[in-house]
Amino acid sequence: MSLMRLAYASEATFEAKPVEKGVEPHVARILMTSRKNNARDQLVGGLYYGNDRFFQYLEGDEDAVRRTFDRILKDERHKNVVTLIEEPLTSRTFSNWSMKYVPLSRDVRNFLDEQGLESFEPSSFTSDQCEKMIELIRNSSQNQNLVNRDNNQSVGDAPQVLSSGMKMGLIVAGLVLVGALVIGGTML
Ligand SMILES: Cc1cc2nc3c(=O)[nH]c(=O)nc-3n(C[C@H](O)[C@H](O)[C@H](O)COP(=O)(O)O)c2cc1C
Repeated sequence: MSLMRLAYASEATFEAKPVEKGVEPHVARILMTSRKNNARDQLVGGLYYGNDRFFQYLEGDEDAVRRTFDRILKDERHKNVVTLIEEPLTSRTFSNWSMKYVPLSRDVRNFLDEQGLESFEPSSFTSDQCEKMIELIRNSSQNQNLVNRDNNQSVGDAPQVLSSGMKMGLIVAGLVLVGALVIGGTML
């Protein structure tokens, strides 16, 4: 099995909607599909989205990367896809994330500042800048549970019916009530 890696830049064709649970809704849908498919195909990598631009990095089995990229190229949610890296890989460089997602975070802003770039325009990244972006994705500590794979609900925002403090309070109140009933019963 031969491995390869691939990075590209593209421009979103959709009009960005307000962020819901930390992710733009179109991007959330892309991520859900990507995570399902990439986990199945043992592909890893990351997706950056900001300034209506995408930067995506994929690595894994060559056939799987190429099949996935063929689907991505046909996707009408983006255009002007520019391949930045497409080459063989001797060993995997990511741990087991199927698709890390990092919005235009402080790390990327620092990187843009360092490089003297005013906005996120990945299609004009040099190969050195691409490697730095990949390194940012690799080291990203973004909460990867933000987009739940099954129902697009943020795990962090899942409604908490009762907080643990309230639960403890109810248990104590229940015990006090049982105690009172037992004591009351013995006094009758
Ligand atoms: C910017 C962008 C990145 C995408 N990345 C992936 C990806 O990593 N893996 C994937 O399977 N689909 C990805 N997609 C979605 C594919 O274009 C396509 O819709 C999807 O693979 C179809 O999957 P399905 O046949 O399971 O419905 C991406 C789409 C866009 C616009």
